[in-house]
Amino acid sequence: MITLFSRRAMLPLIVIFCLLFVSNNIRKIPLHSSVQFYKFVSQVPIPLKTNNESPIHLALPKSSHGGNTDPTTQNSQIPLKKIPSALLEFTACSLSPNRYTNHIRLPNLLYNISMSPKSGEAFDNRTFWNPTILALPYWAKNQYLLISMVTPDADPYRRNVMCEANICYPKSQKPKTTRERTCSDEDLAFLGRNGGLRCVNPPVELNVPPTPAAKCDGEAQVFSDIPGFHDPRIFYTGRGEPILMMSSQSQYACIGLWVLDLRALYPQLNNLFSSSPKRLGPGPVISYPTLTELTKNPSSARQPYEKNWVIFSTSPSTSYIQYEVNSSSRTIAKLIGGGLTTTNITSPLEQSCLLPPTASELESGKYKESAKWHQTTPSLKLILCTRGNKTCHNQPENAVFIALIQRKNLNAWNLPTRYERFVVVWSADPPFNMLAMSKYPLLMSNETTSGWTAEETWDDVPEGGKDGNGEMYGEEREHWGVFTYTTSIAWAWGREEGDIREKGTGFLDDEVVLSVGVDDVGMVFAKVLVSESLVCLRVCPGAD
Ligand SMILES: *[C@@H]1O[C@H](CO)[C@@H](O)[C@H](O)[C@H]1NC(C)=O
Ligand SMILES: *[C@@H]1O[C@H](CO)[C@@H](O)[C@H](O)[C@H]1NC(C)=O
Ligand SMILES: *[C@@H]1O[C@H](CO)[C@@H](O)[C@H](O)[C@H]1NC(C)=O
Ligand SMILES: *[C@@H]1O[C@H](CO)[C@@H](O)[C@H](O)[C@H]1NC(C)=O
Ligand SMILES: *[C@@H]1O[C@H](CO)[C@@H](O)[C@H](O)[C@H]1NC(C)=O
Ligand SMILES: *[C@@H]1O[C@H](CO)[C@@H](O)[C@H](O)[C@H]1NC(C)=O
Repeated sequence: MITLFSRRAMLPLIVIFCLLFVSNNIRKIPLHSSVQFYKFVSQVPIPLKTNNESPIHLALPKSSHGGNTDPTTQNSQIPLKKIPSALLEFTACSLSPNRYTNHIRLPNLLYNISMSPKSGEAFDNRTFWNPTILALPYWAKNQYLLISMVTPDADPYRRNVMCEANICYPKSQKPKTTRERTCSDEDLAFLGRNGGLRCVNPPVELNVPPTPAAKCDGEAQVFSDIPGFHDPRIFYTGRGEPILMMSSQSQYACIGLWVLDLRALYPQLNNLFSSSPKRLGPGPVISYPTLTELTKNPSSARQPYEKNWVIFSTSPSTSYIQYEVNSSSRTIAKLIGGGLTTTNITSPLEQSCLLPPTASELESGKYKESAKWHQTTPSLKLILCTRGNKTCHNQPENAVFIALIQRKNLNAWNLPTRYERFVVVWSADPPFNMLAMSKYPLLMSNETTSGWTAEETWDDVPEGGKDGNGEMYGEEREHWGVFTYTTSIAWAWGREEGDIREKGTGFLDDEVVLSVGVDDVGMVFAKVLVSESLVCLRVCPGAD
């Protein structure tokens, strides 16, 4: 029946559904967190609770006119944090970078992803790209949620689909833990000989209503008319809420960032999140039951097209947004509820850790002055010791935030030729200054990078490597993919958290999953021990 209606005609129905959903939810919200105000979604005022548990001083930011609520002055009193000694160990660098491309290579393979679930159904011939992967709680039947974008066919509406998915390994590979799965023959038929991540159920389209843009001028104009959201990213807040962050038309500009609790889109998660074997009672409170736009304060600081913002949580009730970071500036604000934010709290003492292309890089012709930094969403909290270490606690001096960032290099036609992946680490405490970042761009063991010959990018792998079946790769000395784009990172499935609020936190011996898009038409992932991703760090100015 749905196909009889145009998508836009569906909007009023969706809004009504949202209203019903919210009114149901409000009854469930405990009194202590019932601060409410109004947020406008498609002209319909929807009461929304804030995501702040402590009684908050609801001094709403005077968003469009700056206001004098600038906490920067307080932040400037806070000295920059020094790099924790446990992190300093990672500045030792036993790997030597590729002599042509300057990358270092992690020992982990990239693995295939298939959106085709177990079933005799017809092969799904759509093109899926830029995946984002999130581990479900350890007691879930399936391991991951997987969202990917669907390449539009004839119809201009942007579509994004989600499924529950599991990772399997080829039969020849001994499982490291009893919870790891071995691929069936059918899995291998879809994933190839190395196995990988595959949907368990048919992917469902994520029904998020399109939003109207305030204005799309100039170069941004082409976006005003393309309905639907794009660039989905999924992550956990400090409360353990599963959040979908996405780009969609903005109420303040052309394209902005919006958040929505995944439980509102995929109700199966409600039961799962409220059935923790270690914690009785309901799942985490839902701070974003409806589509909520994240703001920039003052809104005059906005670009027409905003993207790649990063949320990080310092406690269950406190989260921040890192808007953008480049070789000259960094902007962070605190989320005060309902998508509203403080003004920029970045310390004026902060000196950028990201380097612009050097003179010799520019001279080589492989880099352009216009290289830009793109953040991968979200950032993860890392406790700098192993999970089993009982004398090490989740204390500020042991904790940092880690994220990936990519330097995007353009060719003569201003098209991306190469995204170089770096780990960045910042303090877990205000003023959240950058502590360290990878000295060299990181490649996975069977990944190539463009801008050099295939021979040159494989130069650091003299004989070629071995894949999960012991078969060789790389000896053909061919390019694999033109560019790979890391959309998100997540803690891998299977660790037994004590509490769902720990979903966004990990230890040095935990693994992270990197979701990677290939040439804007394909998708793969990598699973890396977090301590191995921290190889060859460089200490940031001011943190030493
Ligand atoms: C690397 O892994 C991906 C995902 O399994 C695969 O598609 C690709 O062929 C591999 N590359 C090489 C050079 O073997
Ligand atoms: C995918 O399959 C459908 C139905 O079989 C067909 O109409 C469509 O043209 C196919 N698309 C591509 C890109 O092959
Ligand atoms: C991954 O999938 C691609 C495309 O289906 C296939 O060509 C490749 O061989 C697969 N990789 C492996 C390691 O089997
Ligand atoms: C860095 O970001 C700031 C704030 O968005 C911007 O004004 C500046 O032009 C950017 N600098 C570079 C080198 O991209
Ligand atoms: C935020 O504050 C930092 C530190 O003062 C500054 O470098 C940065 O440019 C500011 N961001 C914006 C958008 O003004
Ligand atoms: C456990 O953590 C403490 C505090 O960070 C550290 O000093 C100690 O070396 C760690 N023990 C082990 C066995 O790693």
